[in-house]
Amino acid sequence: MSDVSRPSPTEARPGSPAGPRTAVVIPAAGRGVRLGPGAPKALRALNGTPMLIHAVRAMAASRAVSLVVVVAPPDGAAEVKSLLDAHALPERTDFLVVPGGESRQESVKLGLDALPPDYDIVLVHDAARPLVPVDTVDAVIEAVRDGASAVVPALPLADTVKEVEPAAVTGEPEPVVATPQRARLRAVQTPQGFDRATLMRAHETVTGDVTDDAGMVERLGLTVVAVPGHEEAFKVTRPLDLVLAEAVLARRRLNDGF
Ligand code: CTP
Ligand code: MG
Repeated sequence: MSDVSRPSPTEARPGSPAGPRTAVVIPAAGRGVRLGPGAPKALRALNGTPMLIHAVRAMAASRAVSLVVVVAPPDGAAEVKSLLDAHALPERTDFLVVPGGESRQESVKLGLDALPPDYDIVLVHDAARPLVPVDTVDAVIEAVRDGASAVVPALPLADTVKEVEPAAVTGEPEPVVATPQRARLRAVQTPQGFDRATLMRAHETVTGDVTDDAGMVERLGLTVVAVPGHEEAFKVTRPLDLVLAEAVLARRRLNDGF
């Protein structure tokens, strides 16, 4: 199912910033196995509002973003569509809903296939990172506008990281094979930003095990750049992350004076 929910966004609107048009694909089709039993992760509530709605609002908060493509759980596209209809988005933001696939990579590709032609910059953002601040979104878009083919928001690591020889049986001791220099490592977040043609080529040609979209662009031999990420762009993965996300929302409400 693919459904344009607002009038075609092809005409420039007053107040929309000049420059290449930017769309965001939000993969939200995962089950959230690590979060435990319940609804698909993107539909779980944070302070009463589905995580996906927080994520869509975080993207629509950027004035540069004029289209959000949500990749819904395969049997949940109608539910996601009515959720988006029920939660107001800024006037300048259109949205589309498409059903997702078995893997994140497949879901992103299905979102890309639904993109109308007139978008030159594409961001890919996990629904599972509902609290990314707009400044991070804008920094990624700006770096693509400045000429980068692929941009990732990234943070230095607190922990030292070891490479191990994974044990055949979980829980068995694993030999450490290397300790990369921590100062050169970054933990990578989303939204990741791309020149559209580059991202399309990556998704059409790169196969195999990848955990992010920028990694596919690296496989094409192209340069990916990192801009500063944000600790509030963390991924809601395990139950404790829900507690942290609700605490962040509560702190924001206090700071906003509500
Ligand atoms: N995702 C997707 N389609 C899939 C799998 C994942 O669109 N087949 C999305 C998730 O909805 C999420 C993002 O990719 O927004 C990052 O994936 P992850 O955090 O791993 O979410 P899940 O796969 O849902 O969680 P888990 O791995 O614990 O099942
Ligand atoms: Mg997953």
